[in-house]
Amino acid sequence: MKIAIGSDHGGFALKVVLLPMLQDLGHEIDDVGCYDTGSVDYPTFADIVCKRVSAGNADCGILICGTGIGMSMAANKKDGIRAALCSDHYTASMSREHNDANVLCLGERVTGPGVAEEIVKVWLKTSFGGGRHLRRIQLFGTV
Ligand code: RB5
Repeated sequence: MKIAIGSDHGGFALKVVLLPMLQDLGHEIDDVGCYDTGSVDYPTFADIVCKRVSAGNADCGILICGTGIGMSMAANKKDGIRAALCSDHYTASMSREHNDANVLCLGERVTGPGVAEEIVKVWLKTSFGGGRHLRRIQLFGTV
């Protein structure tokens, strides 16, 4: 799978943990930044990742900031993006099965690295359920 991943300074350390795991799982990774812990603005990276996903240049996206909240707010402003802020296995799974989330948001200051790795794994392997769930996400207006 081709995955676009981005973080701000508040999510950089968690991204560094997740990158080798994603590569070991065989995914093609497009790391759009940031590349160190210097202070940056999270909407910049949400915008880049969402453009990759909505243009079809990535199959899905992962965005990480301190809480995951800013990234999810910024991402969900973009047409065609269904971003899910997940902090546990169940919401990660359901965000794919019921909501067809195409961007996963994580909060480095909320979710520890071990749980984050499990969230990413289940999120990437869970398929959309379709059916009534497709009808519901079509009601968003921008799918
Ligand atoms: C940066 O300090 C922090 O505000 C950002 O990473 C994120 O948590 C915003 O939602």
